[in-house]
Amino acid sequence: MIVLALETSCDETGVAILRGDDGRVGALRLPDAAAQCPYLLASEVASQVAVHEKYGGIVPEIASRNHLIYAPRLLARATQAAKIWLSEVDAFAATSGPGLASSLMIGASIAKGLAIGFGKSYLAINHLEGHLLSPFFDCGKDSESKIKPNVSLIVSGGHTVLVFVRGLADYQAAGRTVDDAAGEAFDKVAKMLGLGYPGGPEVEKHALGGDPKCFDLPRSMLGSENFSFSGLKTAVRYLLPKIPPGEERRLTQSPYNLDEQTLRNLCASFQQAIIDVLVTKTIAAAQKFRVDLVTMSGGVSCNQELCRQMREACGRTGIQFKSADPWLCTDNAAMIAFAAMLRLQAGFESEVTEEIDPNLALVRLSGNQYSRSKR
Ligand code: KG4
Ligand code: ZN
Repeated sequence: MIVLALETSCDETGVAILRGDDGRVGALRLPDAAAQCPYLLASEVASQVAVHEKYGGIVPEIASRNHLIYAPRLLARATQAAKIWLSEVDAFAATSGPGLASSLMIGASIAKGLAIGFGKSYLAINHLEGHLLSPFFDCGKDSESKIKPNVSLIVSGGHTVLVFVRGLADYQAAGRTVDDAAGEAFDKVAKMLGLGYPGGPEVEKHALGGDPKCFDLPRSMLGSENFSFSGLKTAVRYLLPKIPPGEERRLTQSPYNLDEQTLRNLCASFQQAIIDVLVTKTIAAAQKFRVDLVTMSGGVSCNQELCRQMREACGRTGIQFKSADPWLCTDNAAMIAFAAMLRLQAGFESEVTEEIDPNLALVRLSGNQYSRSKR
């Protein structure tokens, strides 16, 4: 079974082709498969970061115009890399939400057109489900591809959500941010400090060698299951003008002339405040739902220190920890293809009349969005 998926929910255009084997995902070894993954035939991502950087944020119309340019090119490249014809694909999938409406429409329209043209199945996939399932995309290393009950932390630029996962398509909301997503806080604080975009990797880099206890920053809403990161961002904004300017050469484009060690200390303190909140709430949710597995996905889960501390906290409480491989953490179509493959194998498929939904909620996935396959 071959699934081709498109991801165009935001500013990354992704096309991936995934092959399952005898109703199982994984195990099939193909010569040209991506090195990390024996059954991923192709995964192409075109980033638009450089295009939007000069505007200081994503411009939706520019994003969708670029998807329209990149998607056909990536489709050609992916089929070439996978050495297959489009007619050999069994199902076409696309991210149908949440995301930017005009961006979602590009991937969904292409996937629907291909499904109609070749008379194949269509699957509308929730972007968050793509992230949520990505820790299980372990390339057949773990022959058990079944989704075990777990508490899943999806932590990205647009989302910070905790989900109690009973199994595939059986999700219960367990917490979410009431304002900024964790990645958004990384991006905004990095911007204040004059660091580049995306801010997460920049802050992580500068946090190395910094003292995470140097600045006392707030850990908001620790007693609640929900998250709030805007207070932390504001605390950094108010703190910056109070820090005496450094005498060394200014390291960044920031109006605040922090010396290198102060910048490192601030990045480390800010990063630690985010990690403390994410770890505390995730462990609390895992205990509340009595699961012995915590999974973590999304762009912020690329953060090594977050992974290390989450793994350590899970270990202390006797919980297994699984995170997506770094190449799968930021937006890509392989995770969408993987979710589509699992759904297809479980008998789900979508109508081609399925609309995109910029505010698509994850828990609705267990509702009537899908019909059981007629095959
Ligand atoms: O999942 P993703 O690619 O896109 C969304 O669906 O939002 O996540 C992008 C976010 C950005 O906010 C970026 O700053 C953050 O993930 N990020 C990181 C790291 N790498 C990416 N945050 C903290 N540490 C990192 N190493
Ligand atoms: Zn994402």
